[in-house]
Amino acid sequence: MPWNTFIEGDNLTVLHALAAAGETFDLVYIDPPYNTGSAFAYHDDVRGPDGRRAGRHEAWVAMMRPRLEAARAVMSRGAAIYVSIDDNEAAHLRLLMDEVYGEANFLAQVVVSLNAKGRQLGRGFATSHEYLLVYARDARACVLDASSPELVDERDFPLVADDGRRYRRLPLRNTNKKFNPITAPTLHYPLWGSPESGEVRVEPFPGAVEIKPVFGDGSPAVWRWSAPLVAERSDDLVCRRLTGRLGERVDVFQRDWLDVVGGATGTVRRKKLRTVWTAAEVGSTDVAVAELKALVGHVFESPKPTGLLRRILQTMPTDARVLDFFAGSGTTGHAVALQNAADGGRRTCVSVNHAEPTRPGSNAHRVGLATVADITRARLRAVAEAVGGGLEER
Ligand SMILES: C[S@@+](CC[C@H](N)C(=O)[O-])C[C@H]1O[C@@H](n2cnc3c(N)ncnc32)[C@H](O)[C@@H]1O
Repeated sequence: MPWNTFIEGDNLTVLHALAAAGETFDLVYIDPPYNTGSAFAYHDDVRGPDGRRAGRHEAWVAMMRPRLEAARAVMSRGAAIYVSIDDNEAAHLRLLMDEVYGEANFLAQVVVSLNAKGRQLGRGFATSHEYLLVYARDARACVLDASSPELVDERDFPLVADDGRRYRRLPLRNTNKKFNPITAPTLHYPLWGSPESGEVRVEPFPGAVEIKPVFGDGSPAVWRWSAPLVAERSDDLVCRRLTGRLGERVDVFQRDWLDVVGGATGTVRRKKLRTVWTAAEVGSTDVAVAELKALVGHVFESPKPTGLLRRILQTMPTDARVLDFFAGSGTTGHAVALQNAADGGRRTCVSVNHAEPTRPGSNAHRVGLATVADITRARLRAVAEAVGGGLEER
């Protein structure tokens, strides 16, 4: 099975064909046309329910809706989808994704700063970021792991348990005032604990005192764990006496372990990925242009850096089947090959782009790349040559 496959065609037709062939994907990444108003190809084609020409956003949403629905149909149960988007359509896309994937399957709206200096042309703010909207096909089954390859800092886990494992104490009480007995009544219940032995239980026991969750000012709060979870993981909790703003009190803390829970001792936890990604971490637009230039020339205006795609790939299993149906210059396929080469993964990637003509006079046109599909193909061929993994062209 080659690492890369390229399919030329309108992505809606291709998505339906993939579904008919029973193909499924674990990770979808897309970077749809951004709809700046002037260059939006779908503008004239779409009419509203009353036959009137649809507005700019309506037309864009009407183009995207069936494609997102068709994408959902080819996603495996544990799959996730990442969509790059800027301020022009971020709000509309978020609502559309809520509709198609369900609000409960929203995972994150990541801010990606690919241009640290910001766009200096034009009036107003120098915009330096765009977004990645991340949704699961089904959040309960999703295999996405939002952790970075970086390990957590051992110094943040200063305590040592009797068995030698390092940990830190976190309050079991939810410190966010949004969560209180009115908004989360089932999490407001008494626990029983002994500040002498440290033991915590959901029912009374000799030497235990009753502990209710309270904020620092004494107002009622809620726990972060349900009563059944407390009963199941009571060894991970500890009862302590402490002095707060209102004097001495007894409270319950979670022992947050340095090692992966259930993993072998010494398998240190990875840091969680934050929701702001910088050019220093994932590459800038300039880096992206240089990467493309090194392989096929400066033939595409707005490629993404492979570092961005590699970070996305690292949130999914190393054998993920990846799909990019707005492939453009083929960054996703390039990143899949680089990541496989780096970590020995067996990811595969299907890239789709239609034969949109390149602008006469543009670099691409001058070097004989008559359509964007020609650009995608040229890059993926160069990737197969330089990095390996092969390329199937359909
Ligand atoms: C913003 S670009 C993607 C850039 C890409 N992420 C990269 O790094 O090079 C969007 C791409 O979608 C393609 N496209 C737009 N509508 C399409 C459609 N209906 N079917 C297939 N491709 C389409 C365009 O030709 C363009 O190359």
